[in-house]
Amino acid sequence: MSIEEIFHQYLDSKVFRDREKLLPDYVPEELPHRDEQIVTLAKVLAPALTGSRPSNVFIYGLTGTGKTAVTKYVLRKIREKAQHKVDYVYINCRQNNTSYRVLAELAKHLGVKVPFTGLALGEVMKRLVQGLERHRGIIVVVLDEVDNLVKRNGDDVLYFLTRVNEELTSSKVSVIGITNDLKFTEFLDARVKSSLGEEELVFPPYNAVQLEDILRRRAREALKDGVVDDEVLKKVAAIAARQNGDCRLALDILLKAADIADREGADKITQVHVDKARNEIEKNLAVDIIKTMPLHVKLVLASIYLLSRDNSSRMITTGLIYDKYKELASKLGMEPVTSRRISDIINELDIVGIINARVISLGRYGRTKVVSIGVPLKNVEEGLASDSILKTLFGIG
Ligand SMILES: Nc1ncnc2c1ncn2[C@@H]1O[C@H](COP(=O)(O)OP(=O)(O)OP(=O)(O)O)[C@@H](O)[C@H]1O
Ligand SMILES: [Mg+2]
Repeated sequence: MSIEEIFHQYLDSKVFRDREKLLPDYVPEELPHRDEQIVTLAKVLAPALTGSRPSNVFIYGLTGTGKTAVTKYVLRKIREKAQHKVDYVYINCRQNNTSYRVLAELAKHLGVKVPFTGLALGEVMKRLVQGLERHRGIIVVVLDEVDNLVKRNGDDVLYFLTRVNEELTSSKVSVIGITNDLKFTEFLDARVKSSLGEEELVFPPYNAVQLEDILRRRAREALKDGVVDDEVLKKVAAIAARQNGDCRLALDILLKAADIADREGADKITQVHVDKARNEIEKNLAVDIIKTMPLHVKLVLASIYLLSRDNSSRMITTGLIYDKYKELASKLGMEPVTSRRISDIINELDIVGIINARVISLGRYGRTKVVSIGVPLKNVEEGLASDSILKTLFGIG
């Protein structure tokens, strides 16, 4: 196909009306099945309209339950209503995962000059206090995916933001902390925990019926009429419902299926497109998980990979894995971790679904664990091969 043809086909899509409307960052004009959360958050933030400080809010829910979308939606509405008096800063703590970077983001929003790195945290905070004071109004600071910050850098920023009102006279700060991982609250100082949790909001997972309804409305905006049937939406919704009601996954699958249909020049999205989309997403997921694993975990996986590749009929036991792992570690000149740790790693790999482990009985010889790779071998290969050390040493990839 020539470039002209590709572009022409794209411009002349039979599938899309407005592809943007299916992208994950787009916040739609309506968020069905989150009325309760929208109303609660609106009630908590409403005092800002008359200049009093809203309570801090702690928002919790599994991934893809609409936490980010609802928060942005409500804040946008309140800023429209309040015009200049209320402002908000949205900071994603996965992208900005150090205390310094979070504070620097806030500084940038307030027009406070802070260099990219280098100042002591205390100095940044001092400048922020001045900047906040000059702001003269309510400022809501949203720390999304805040667990990433706290696990890495502790609760300095949360401590600062939940205490800073004591130093301010003409401005007020409220904090909204959002997470899908409650474990991080163990790292919080008791006072920080209680001030952040002045109000708590839980986002339950969507069920299949709700997901189907959400998908139908997003599809209406993004896709041409008649491109997607109810059966197809039902199927996508059912897949995502099984994955903890993750709406992001549902939209991902629909977008990818629509892309595949569009590329094929089809005028309808079929179940086959959905299956293809799902395979592609699962593949990416496995490869991404493997790419970000610590080296020893990769080595254990590489051992299992090599054992299955080179000797597919043999049962892969924990003992064999440990021997292979030690061989690989010594080739790399690395101190091997203990067999106890290897067992833990095997369990971790099992939990994320990269491998399947089961315990079998050897009669009077006791029991052992046998392991097999749980995703296509080529995905494991692709994930491991992205590590240059593994790639060159073992001829993977
Ligand atoms: N009720 C809804 N109606 C329409 N779209 C929705 C709804 N809820 C969520 N979405 C969409 O689903 C995707 C995921 O939602 P969102 O990003 O808000 O999840 P989240 O709870 O913040 O997840 P995470 O914990 O992973 O950050 C987004 O694209 C969002 O626009
Ligand atoms: Mg989010």
